[in-house]
Amino acid sequence: MRIALFGATGLLGRALVREWQDDDVIPFSSADADIREPVQVERAVQHSRPNWIVLAAAYTDVDGCEMDRELAFAVNTQGASNVAEAARKFQSQLLFVSTDYVFDGTKTEPYETSDQRNPKSVYGQSKAEAEIRISEILPNSCIARTSWLFGNNGKCFPDTILKLAASRPFLDVVNDQRGSPTYSVDLARAMIQLCHNNARGIVHVTNRGDCTWYDLAKELINAVGLSTIVRPTTTDKFPRPAPRPKYSVLSSKTLDAYGITMPGWRDAVGRYLIERKTAG
Ligand SMILES: NC(=O)c1ccc[n+]([C@@H]2O[C@H](COP(=O)([O-])OP(=O)(O)OC[C@H]3O[C@@H](n4cnc5c(N)ncnc54)[C@H](OP(=O)(O)O)[C@@H]3O)[C@@H](O)[C@H]2O)c1
Repeated sequence: MRIALFGATGLLGRALVREWQDDDVIPFSSADADIREPVQVERAVQHSRPNWIVLAAAYTDVDGCEMDRELAFAVNTQGASNVAEAARKFQSQLLFVSTDYVFDGTKTEPYETSDQRNPKSVYGQSKAEAEIRISEILPNSCIARTSWLFGNNGKCFPDTILKLAASRPFLDVVNDQRGSPTYSVDLARAMIQLCHNNARGIVHVTNRGDCTWYDLAKELINAVGLSTIVRPTTTDKFPRPAPRPKYSVLSSKTLDAYGITMPGWRDAVGRYLIERKTAG
């Protein structure tokens, strides 16, 4: 198969390039093709003539989106629509990566793919609108929602925590937001399987299990043997421009239906730390 990958320079994109060995992957950065520009997207798709387009490109700065709504919608919504239009024109299948932030976080049990979208942040709104537009343009597309992405080759919570912990005796971390940390390598592997399985519709793809940011920070710090004490705190102590869902655990039922089982998040953290150490 031939795959056109938009967002190849991102955290997930780099994992996809590395993991996707058995097919022909054509990577695009924003310099190669700005997804806000339909002509650039069309040219990229026309030249690569892919069986699948994987859209991992997005403006992912959640607080940045809150402060620049226009940019958020230009990249995340209009950009995604441009890619879907090109996929329709050149008869490629589309796998779009979306987010748990399309939900409001008021549930207390895992979100199903059939649950109503109700995003509270501009980032979530721009991705939710993209999901709707993509489903209209290309009803057979696949939308893979993930959450709390981490990995090497990019900015992420675990990397920030470990860098801070190296120089601080205490760290205060919020304990009132619950989700599922997801390792870019595991997500990439699942996405490759989804393409091979001809997946359609919305699929939730996260590592198994859930925790709070506080739990995740403690796991990381214990695993690397640092003596930093992690103290639980609450979201209201860390005011940020964009609201975050209190609970955004995604049900794995749709992924199970494709016979794909994700590793647990603690296992994923262990492998991330080994990779991080190897990378130096
Ligand atoms: N990070 C998370 O916690 C998280 C959680 C849930 C879902 N997701 C979703 O997962 C996907 C991957 O996220 P990530 O964390 O890997 O992203 P990332 O590291 O921030 O990388 C973003 C990618 O998008 C590209 N990009 C940005 N603006 C573009 C534009 N106008 N035209 C073309 N490409 C553009 C960037 O290209 P350049 O580097 O070349 O500019 C880069 O390759 C996104 O769809 C995101 O919404 C992320």
